[in-house]
Amino acid sequence: MTTAPADLSVAGDQHGDEAGQALFDELIARDSRIEPRDWMPEGYRKTLIRQISQHAHSEIIGMQPESNWITRAPSLKRKAILMAKVQDEAGHGLYLYSAAQTLGITREEMMDQLITGRARYSSIFNYLTPTWADMGAIGWLVDGAAICNQVPLCRCSYGPYGRAMVRICKEESFHQRQGFEILLELMQGTEEQREMAQDAVNRWYWPSLMMFGPPDDESPNSAQSMAWNIKRFSNDELRQRFVGMLVPQSEVLGVTLPDPALRWNEETGQYDMSEIDWDEFNEVLAGRGPANAERIRRRREAHDDGAWVREAAAAYAAKQAARQAEVA
Ligand SMILES: [Fe+2]
Ligand SMILES: [Fe+2]
Repeated sequence: MTTAPADLSVAGDQHGDEAGQALFDELIARDSRIEPRDWMPEGYRKTLIRQISQHAHSEIIGMQPESNWITRAPSLKRKAILMAKVQDEAGHGLYLYSAAQTLGITREEMMDQLITGRARYSSIFNYLTPTWADMGAIGWLVDGAAICNQVPLCRCSYGPYGRAMVRICKEESFHQRQGFEILLELMQGTEEQREMAQDAVNRWYWPSLMMFGPPDDESPNSAQSMAWNIKRFSNDELRQRFVGMLVPQSEVLGVTLPDPALRWNEETGQYDMSEIDWDEFNEVLAGRGPANAERIRRRREAHDDGAWVREAAAAYAAKQAARQAEVA
């Protein structure tokens, strides 16, 4: 994939850049879509490459904490559901890598950034999954937060990203329901099962709130992303929306959200909540979470183990191309 249509990418082509910028501005002002063939500012392209590749990495790394439980799922039904869910996440990664490739970065470059530790992914996936209830808490809280973040991204100005998100969101909503249902069953079980469910909610609640990113006044890139119609709501707005979804669902489940200060505030029209521990967030982001090293090590291993598959696929593609050339 080249980085831009040839007629607009020529260095120093001032006229092309100006016309391109004018068209780009007009498309954004009309809330229309930017497509891979369109001229776009370098900042827009770079922001999207970073965001979409980080998103793809999160889907792929996010398979690990749950695949940990596939062999130990408590029943055949749970095992089948969990396998389907983890496979969905692989599919999300693939749609997103493809969307990022339309912006002029290769899959190899992105994978290299990930396995050499130069790329970020959502820090939530650096937490451990010691109990079965973690599968419930991840589905309910982590996939739930992902939905709140991603539904507005279906309207992202970059066409391939927005379209990928439509399909991804449908699957995320199944993921959230299966997590809710795991917790519901545990909460209707024995005292020990209820405790296990509550313990998992206690451990995942705060990290799931951190998934929306730093508070608005400490999120310097947000304004530009909003102006480009990539981002539609601020981090704090989305966090509020998420908590508003969780409160009634936690009542149905019978679990307690682990924040004693959490209550609806009539005056502000928002939930009051305790301060998030941003030191913990920054520690995990800096690579010092419970499982950062393990996640990258396993990703690197999987990449090395898959080398023969990539070689075989490339050899097959070359053979097919040669056969086609012979016919033509
Ligand atoms: Fe996903
Ligand atoms: Fe998911």
